[in-house]
Amino acid sequence: MKRVLTGIQSTGRPHLGNLLGAIIPAIRLSKNNHESLFFIADLHSFTTIRCANDLKQNTYATAAAWIAFGFDTKNNYFYRQSDVPQVTELAWYLSCFTPFPMLANAHSFKDKSDRLSQVNAGLFTYPVLMAADILLYDANIVPVGKDQKQHLEITRDLAKAFNYKYPNSFIVPEISIDKKSQIVPGIDGNKMSKSYDNTIDIFLSDKKLRKRIMQIKTDSKPVEAIKNPEICNVFNLYRFIASENQVLEMKKKYQAGNFGYGQAKEELYNLVIDKFHNERNKFQFLMNNTEIIEKELRKGAKKAQVIADEVLNRVRSKIGY
Ligand code: ADP
Ligand code: TRP
Repeated sequence: MKRVLTGIQSTGRPHLGNLLGAIIPAIRLSKNNHESLFFIADLHSFTTIRCANDLKQNTYATAAAWIAFGFDTKNNYFYRQSDVPQVTELAWYLSCFTPFPMLANAHSFKDKSDRLSQVNAGLFTYPVLMAADILLYDANIVPVGKDQKQHLEITRDLAKAFNYKYPNSFIVPEISIDKKSQIVPGIDGNKMSKSYDNTIDIFLSDKKLRKRIMQIKTDSKPVEAIKNPEICNVFNLYRFIASENQVLEMKKKYQAGNFGYGQAKEELYNLVIDKFHNERNKFQFLMNNTEIIEKELRKGAKKAQVIADEVLNRVRSKIGY
């Protein structure tokens, strides 16, 4: 059985883009007769987050979203990166195999290289910890978004370099980038992202969620006008969650006129509430009972540690410890 592994940083509450682009597809993949390891990359989050309560709450919210959307934690591995500290030991061994230019050319660092005084060593060596995340569990397949491709190439290069010196230390993982995956737009039409402050948080209360959806930017065509759905941010979000029939119906309404953007937003709001009814309830329940999440994560870490110890012992003995 192939082992699929992926991590998600806990830098905030997961938004609709994270859900549709990463969490839901990964859960779908986990049902395909694979052994899945999903973890919350809270050591990576520490490169930027400096508030203990934020770090904790973001971790809980990320975990709650995975559970609420149906990830089967019993038959897979679901854990918090910091609960398996073995990963930092492996990161050290790998860092001794990492040439300086490899990290200097990594996007995670390069994007910030004009502000060097703000770059900490953790941010600089981010890709090494990421390689350790993957190699520590003998992962075969790593599904990620396009933006993570370079990090995965670094992982593969490090595994190969290490194996060259110490044969059979690591499995060289395959990168899986879903070509069909599309970018979910934010309320301003740009890519939905925490960094652009344009996200939709489906776990907000009804009232706040409605208010946010009403903020989606549209042009100022009057209600009577015939409208082009393809260039409308409301429609472009609607099509991500609606059924084929619902999309066709909505298209017709735009093209017939006498259908205002306010009405389109109302329909989008109703659809989100309806479609994610169970998940939103489950999420709220878990966030009100974080001890349940804590228990799940600790159980998951125990299971993950069994693999981590096995791989780490293998590597230690190859090195000569
Ligand atoms: P953000 O841009 O909000 O900081 P992250 O970079 O933490 O999001 O992304 C976490 C995961 O969610 C990644 O796998 C990424 O590919 C996916 N993702 C983020 N935003 C979107 C989006 N707008 N559309 C599709 N997938 C997205
Ligand atoms: N860097 C990834 C991101 O920002 C998160 C991550 C950390 C990860 N370790 C990983 C993803 C290992 C896949 C495998 O999205």
